[in-house]
Amino acid sequence: MVEAETQSSVQFINHLKPNIADRIVLLEEPRMIAFPTAGEQKEREEMSEALTYTQRMAGIGLLTTSIGHEMNTPLSIIAATCSNLQHEIEENNLSMEQLLKYVTMIEQNAWRAARIVEVLRNYSYDEETQTAVTDLNMIIEDALTLVQHQLHGEYNIQVETQLAHNLGTIVCDHSRLTQVLVNLLLNARDAIGRSGGKITVKSWPVPPPTVSLSRVNGLPAVAPTREEYAFSVSDNGPGIDPAIIEQIFEPFFSTKPNGKGAGLGLFVARHIVEQHHGRLTAENNLTGGATFTVVLPRQ
Ligand SMILES: Nc1ncnc2c1ncn2[C@@H]1O[C@H](COP(=O)(O)OP(=O)(O)OP(=O)(O)O)[C@@H](O)[C@H]1O
Ligand SMILES: [Mg+2]
Repeated sequence: MVEAETQSSVQFINHLKPNIADRIVLLEEPRMIAFPTAGEQKEREEMSEALTYTQRMAGIGLLTTSIGHEMNTPLSIIAATCSNLQHEIEENNLSMEQLLKYVTMIEQNAWRAARIVEVLRNYSYDEETQTAVTDLNMIIEDALTLVQHQLHGEYNIQVETQLAHNLGTIVCDHSRLTQVLVNLLLNARDAIGRSGGKITVKSWPVPPPTVSLSRVNGLPAVAPTREEYAFSVSDNGPGIDPAIIEQIFEPFFSTKPNGKGAGLGLFVARHIVEQHHGRLTAENNLTGGATFTVVLPRQ
């Protein structure tokens, strides 16, 4: 099922590729165009935007299938609780305390199901950028909801989260940053493969570097520069081949077998992060596997 969904989205992107691939590589390549004109910059931005939207739309089929599986759990709990409730009522031995317990369980799971649907609906956003004040940890939770079944159900991957508490809010496009995380998580899944492994997702506030202003009353006065927050996705797969590490952010660069990867995930992720004036970096872990880190300014 997942194979088929992935293949059809890759076919969809490949259909568009001949029209834009050469042009965008040229526009992305700083050595080719040292000083892009305003027109070339605009063209590059428009193509990157089109690819970002296309990449998201092409992946929706896969995520909808995953979300379908995720919905099963709360809906099954609601159905089972209702039939227990019915049985107890027929037997006439239902206390108020038990009734409250059943109703609470139904309510919690109905909210859980509603939240899952909301995550998918938010993800299938309009083409336009929409910025709002958001909690970074919420973006991580949403992305994990979208890919949960991909990691647990289809692959045997354990996910550990180490999220900073009281992480401040940032002004960003929630659904676009969710797309960044989804892309990084699916790459980690592919790197680990079906034999299973572990993904670790972290978030933390980046301490602002301080700049010395002048001396006030003999003491150095310092002012913090911009506030930043970061998140990372680490896996314990084979790591990134050093021979290709310079190329992985290029559009349409993929080492995955034909029909499995369009080579857009990292290109789109970096485009979105740069739109937020942040940075996305990749490195191999000393203990094996790779880590992708996103640093974002608060505003
Ligand atoms: N976590 C990772 N570990 C090792 N290599 C990675 C990892 N993430 C990405 N790569 C390498 O970077 C390449 C480019 O990744 P990218 O997400 O841009 O494309 P893709 O995953 O191949 O295709 P798509 O994302 O469009 O389905 C991958 O084909 C893979 O070789
Ligand atoms: Mg990818």
